[in-house]
Amino acid sequence: AAVRRYRFELRNSTHSRLCTNKTMLTINGQFPGPTIYARRGDLVIVDVINRANHNITIHWHGVKMPRYPWSDGPEFVTQCPISPGTRFSQRIVLSDEEGTLWWHAHSEWSRNSVYGALVILPPRGESYPFPKPHQEVPILLGDWFNRDVQEIMEEFLASGGDPKVSDSFLINGQPGDVYPCSRQGVDTFRLKVETGKTYLLRIVNAVMNNIMFFKIANHNVTVVGTDAAYTKRLTSDYIAISPGQTIDLLLVANQPPSHYYMASRAYASGGDFDNTTTTAILEYAGNYTPPASPALPSFPPFDSTDASNNFTTQLRSLASRKYPVDVPKNVTDILFFTLSINLRPCTNDSCEESRTERLMASVNNVTLQLPRTDFLQAYYRRINGVYTTDFPDNPAFPFNYTQQNISIDLARPQNGTSVNILDFNATVELVFQGTNLVGGVDHPMHLHGYSFYVVGSGFGNFNRTRDLPNYNLVDPPLMETIAVPINGWTAIRFKANNPGVWFMHCHFERHVSWGMGMVFIVRDGPGRDEKMLPPPPDMPLC
Ligand code: C2O
Ligand code: CU
Repeated sequence: AAVRRYRFELRNSTHSRLCTNKTMLTINGQFPGPTIYARRGDLVIVDVINRANHNITIHWHGVKMPRYPWSDGPEFVTQCPISPGTRFSQRIVLSDEEGTLWWHAHSEWSRNSVYGALVILPPRGESYPFPKPHQEVPILLGDWFNRDVQEIMEEFLASGGDPKVSDSFLINGQPGDVYPCSRQGVDTFRLKVETGKTYLLRIVNAVMNNIMFFKIANHNVTVVGTDAAYTKRLTSDYIAISPGQTIDLLLVANQPPSHYYMASRAYASGGDFDNTTTTAILEYAGNYTPPASPALPSFPPFDSTDASNNFTTQLRSLASRKYPVDVPKNVTDILFFTLSINLRPCTNDSCEESRTERLMASVNNVTLQLPRTDFLQAYYRRINGVYTTDFPDNPAFPFNYTQQNISIDLARPQNGTSVNILDFNATVELVFQGTNLVGGVDHPMHLHGYSFYVVGSGFGNFNRTRDLPNYNLVDPPLMETIAVPINGWTAIRFKANNPGVWFMHCHFERHVSWGMGMVFIVRDGPGRDEKMLPPPPDMPLC
């Protein structure tokens, strides 16, 4: 295993999209940020240096950070922010992850411009469980706001309503040529391919608030991995990908040489969104006259829950001898978490004038309030009064979660700074239940510090007696972000073998801003190698 060192300088740099110049936070002046390359088992050290005017933290999304939450990154969960003029060296130990992950800012909404791909290759001398591709390309889906994202976030928080929709979606930082005002050739990402060759596309959804469809006109793609774990091959003419999620797919350039659109579009089960199709161009080598404008691929309807859900529920672990499945068969801890959007009375000036109630969100009726000192430090140094340990295993009282017109008074959420404590090596089953309290919506739930097996999902209310026999314990996909379907549920299982403090939250920025998150503390185990490691000396101070 090698040690790889990167220097990440946070700066304000100016970028132009949609005929708008904007100064925004970037790493090393790049947008999207630099790609980190490593091999399975390597140690990556990233020196983060803050030369901007905004606090920052960086998260290595999908890396388990074994016994070392200190470098995980979520602001006020595992660290205090890296303030302007200071630096923090983050140690990222790669263990069994192999494939594509990504890194992003985990401080307010700054991940909008502070993100990049993290490519983890097999160890030297080992190969992929699929034919070696001719070329590999990260494809990052993102979005662009013409205005400063910090202002957008502050207005959103002050309004009490939904946030402003971004001005465009992006593929590798480019909106594509279907947006008005985009400059031919400059504002479009192009992927050049040769007839007959196979390409590995490493798709990352870095969008703030939308699950995305992605599709290449006239071509099928074959999924081979998600969230840095290999899957059985799944061939499809489109994919659906949640914010936070990564999908590796093979593309064979097997169509007549021409230009084809590679495109992405939002799937919206609720909330405002931009329904423009963002485009990139797949450009075959050769002598031909390209079409003036290639045909756009046809997407599922923007609100097609079936299209999103059908794709996701077909994913399966590779489950080979080399990449075995290790799903807990018996569970020691059964958790049931309701995910709700809520309404809260506006107090004083906490909303825009026209509103009397503001939107909030909760997990098991608890709306997460981040403390001023991070959970991890408080846990490690036994600082009292930062958090409580009473995050509930179950909702306070059950009701029909998915019926229409539920009385929103049924579950007025409480603000809380509470954690749920798991014993070392507990085998956990966690069911996420979407609710319809203030309209249903999918929730892409992300767990730090772990990957989990997605053993089941369905629409309506979860019923363990009925649903348990249908769990897939043979080849469930191993993921760290999963979209809980609108008006439905998702069951995951994992073994709590990574001691530390780990954030779990919806990966829609608007929902986590409303409090849709919670924190697990996984206790140390008895063995020497089963305890959390001590913090580094340069941990940022609050
Ligand atoms: Cu990709 Cu807590 O985040
Ligand atoms: Cu959500």
